[in-house]
Amino acid sequence: MKHDHNTKILTFYSDPDVVGYYKNDDRLIPVEAALLARVKEELQNQPILDIGIGGGRTTPHLREISKAYTGIDYSEAMIQAARWRFPGVDFLTCDARDLSRFQNGQFAAVFFFGGGIDDVSGADRLLVLKEIRRVLRSRGIFIFSSHNLAGHFTAGRAGGLRLYGNPRIFVADNLLRLRCWISHCKGALRNMIHDKGYAVFVDYDGYFATQPKIGVVLRTHYIRRSGQIRQLIENGFSEIEAFDPGGNIINDDKTAKSVYLQYIARKRE
Ligand SMILES: C[S@@+](CC[C@H](N)C(=O)[O-])C[C@H]1O[C@@H](n2cnc3c(N)ncnc32)[C@H](O)[C@@H]1O
Repeated sequence: MKHDHNTKILTFYSDPDVVGYYKNDDRLIPVEAALLARVKEELQNQPILDIGIGGGRTTPHLREISKAYTGIDYSEAMIQAARWRFPGVDFLTCDARDLSRFQNGQFAAVFFFGGGIDDVSGADRLLVLKEIRRVLRSRGIFIFSSHNLAGHFTAGRAGGLRLYGNPRIFVADNLLRLRCWISHCKGALRNMIHDKGYAVFVDYDGYFATQPKIGVVLRTHYIRRSGQIRQLIENGFSEIEAFDPGGNIINDDKTAKSVYLQYIARKRE
C-alpha cells in the first residue's frame, strides 16, 4: 500500500461523518467483553495502551480495568472527539508505526481493536508489531482484531443492489461496491494459484452519514489465522489464541469464516 493510500485512509478517518459515527459507540462485541474479563485481574491499575481508539469506544471499558490508560489514534479528529467525550483522559495523536514517545517495556498490555492494524501496508504492519513488542513489558499482553482472509468473500459482497433517490449516489455507490466485489474475486483467484496467507483487497466503506453520501474504497489487509499466528511468533510473541466475534476459540483455518478474528498473545521473554 503506497503513500497515497495512507493519505486516503487518514482523510477517511478525519471525515466529520465517520468521526461522528465512531464517537457515538461504546458497545463491546462478545469476544472483546470475554477477553477483557479474562485479563481484568492481571491488568488492574497497570499501564495500558489503546491504539486506534476511533471515538473512544473501548475507553470506558479499559479504564474500568486501569486508570493508567493512554489512548492513541493517528487521526487528530478522532482524538479531539475522544477528548470531548472523556475529558481529562490521556489521549494523544500518534501513529502506531512510530511509538517513540513511549519507553521500552512501558506497558503491561496493548490493545488495537476494530481491525485498525489492517489499515497499514504489509511492511508497515511489521513496523507496528515491532513497536508494540518494544513498548510491552516482558510477557505483556497484546489483544487485537484483524480481517480474516478465510472470511473475505463475506466482506467483499457488501450487499446487493442499493436504491437511492439521488441518481449520482445510486450509480457511484453500486459501482464502487461492484469494484470491491471484483477485487475480492480476483484475490480469490490469485490465492488459488499462489496462496501467500495474506492479501490486500479494496473494501467499500460507507460514510456512515445520516444523509446518503458516496463512500470510498480503501485497501484492507486480510490475513489467514495460521499466517497471523506465524507472523506473531516471528515477531516475538507467544501463547497466541484466535477467536471469532462470538468469542468461540478458533483452532484451525477451516472453521474461521468470520470477517474478523480476535487475537490474544504475549510478548515472549
Ligand atoms: C475501524 S476504526 C476502529 C476504532 C476503534 N478501535 C473501535 O473499535 O471502535 C480504526 C481506527 O484505527 C485508526 N488507525 C488506523 N491506522 C492507524 C495507525 N497506523 N496509527 C494509529 N491509529 C490508526 C484509525 O484512525 C481509526 O480511528
